[in-house]
Amino acid sequence: MQIQLKVNGEPRSLDVDPRTTLLDALRNHLDLTGSKKGCDHGQCGACTIILNGRRINSCLSLAVMHEGDEITTVEGIGQPGALSPLQDAFVRHDGYQCGFCTPGQICSATAMLDEVKAGWPSNVSEDLEGTQSLTNDEISERMSGNLCRCAAYANIVDAIAEVGGKE
Ligand code: FES
Ligand code: FES
Repeated sequence: MQIQLKVNGEPRSLDVDPRTTLLDALRNHLDLTGSKKGCDHGQCGACTIILNGRRINSCLSLAVMHEGDEITTVEGIGQPGALSPLQDAFVRHDGYQCGFCTPGQICSATAMLDEVKAGWPSNVSEDLEGTQSLTNDEISERMSGNLCRCAAYANIVDAIAEVGGKE
């Protein structure tokens, strides 16, 4: 099937088998290999992308469900020499080891900070309305869908806290 997507600000047209996941469409049809396939079952978060402003696991969604949708992958968030604040903070805080989970962590954290700004509570928020404070518990809970086999979690939390605190 022919579908049109807007990926990292660019209109993209692709011809996919209806069974193709969004993750495979991005990686195999559009050569955007930043999004990683960790588990392919919605359990690790390595494939996280931002779809119409919200983070999703792209391995759990079919490409044909997204006609006309706006997608941001890690390639659309920053580039070498022009890193996003979060990417820059991950580097400075040593927030990765092998880096396999990092694109998903960056996409997830980017959208998560917008959720906090919008006042969305999490499962550990004490107050369900109003401004949410970005405690370490809040960051851990909100990022719990992104696993890191190298366990760089402490530095990931520090990087997110720095950027979230500045916003
Ligand atoms: S590859 Fe999608 S959640 Fe693991
Ligand atoms: S840095 Fe290796 S999986 Fe997270």
